[in-house]
Amino acid sequence: MTVLVTGGAGYIGSHMVLALLERDEDVVVVDNLVTGHEWAVPAGATFYKADIADPAALDRVFASHRIDAVMHFAGLIIVPESVRLPLDYYRENTCASGVLIQRALEAGVESFIFSSSAAVYGAPGLEPVKETAPFAPTSPYGTSKLMTEWMLRDVAAVNPGFRYAALRYFNVAGADPEMRAGQSSGPSTHLIKIAAEAATGKRDGIAIYGDDFDTPDGTCVRDYIHVTDLADAHYAALSYLRAGGASMAANCGYGVGYSVRQVVDAVKAVSGVDFRVTQAPRRAGDPAMIVAAPGFAREVLGWTPRLDDLPTIIRHALQWESLLSDRKAREQDAR
Ligand code: UFG
Repeated sequence: MTVLVTGGAGYIGSHMVLALLERDEDVVVVDNLVTGHEWAVPAGATFYKADIADPAALDRVFASHRIDAVMHFAGLIIVPESVRLPLDYYRENTCASGVLIQRALEAGVESFIFSSSAAVYGAPGLEPVKETAPFAPTSPYGTSKLMTEWMLRDVAAVNPGFRYAALRYFNVAGADPEMRAGQSSGPSTHLIKIAAEAATGKRDGIAIYGDDFDTPDGTCVRDYIHVTDLADAHYAALSYLRAGGASMAANCGYGVGYSVRQVVDAVKAVSGVDFRVTQAPRRAGDPAMIVAAPGFAREVLGWTPRLDDLPTIIRHALQWESLLSDRKAREQDAR
């Protein structure tokens, strides 16, 4: 049996491919390389440069491999960009997922694991968020993810052989502990990535967006999850579905919140670099706090995080950032 990973040349997808190969799974990657890099596809996976919105290309892939499971990471992920370009997000995230789901169904795929997001909850207030919280996305990005969850729900309802797990990510960060993969696709908008760039001298410093939120230090609170733990959660979901588990949606977070200021201070402490920090106005649409109620994924999927430690996440992000600098320097030397 083979697992198809869409977006396997991207940040989270490349970590997933590593996790699958480590468990002796056969892996096929489909990625259009719009934001991903071919070099990021781990050796050992079969790579197709193709778009998931192209049904003929998908059919060729499904005809060439016995694919029992799809892990769907491909998509656009920048929240403010989705506000500016809503139709791009509905086309690339929702409509393209519809094509993929349809071709997967026709090819007899039984298990489908979808990269969803805590963005489906919007701004849920100060309590940890359970999976049963109301859906209230505040951006086209969040809506595009929710619409895909609903497509999966409705398709699974009338196709008993097809089951899915929608994993709602909180703030994913860090890099493979062995530095085989990390976050490379730019331009960055994510806090830990940006702070790591500041600490490695790639940018002048960092701006903190808003210090007047209703949180202990006035800056926004988030639940940061290590990308390798997230890949493990997907593997747990795959095992669960293959064992006959019912379709489900689960939060992927640790249930522990850190403020922007705490994260910035932690990056300074781990790196030993006192980069410049400025105060900026709030970024549109940022909820004050979003932290997972994390129990469901642990209970139902049997997922056990191994790297739930902020300094470890930051250390791996910093190491990866330095490796990227070395790669760039080598590429420039070679020109
Ligand atoms: N932040 C700064 N300065 C920066 C970058 C970020 O202060 O240079 C702040 C943001 O304002 C926010 C926090 O750091 O308060 C985290 O911001 P990120 O951009 O890293 O992440 P978000 O919480 O905005 O978004 C993440 C995921 C989305 C997902 C969302 C769900 O990236 O995919 O969580 O809540 F939809």
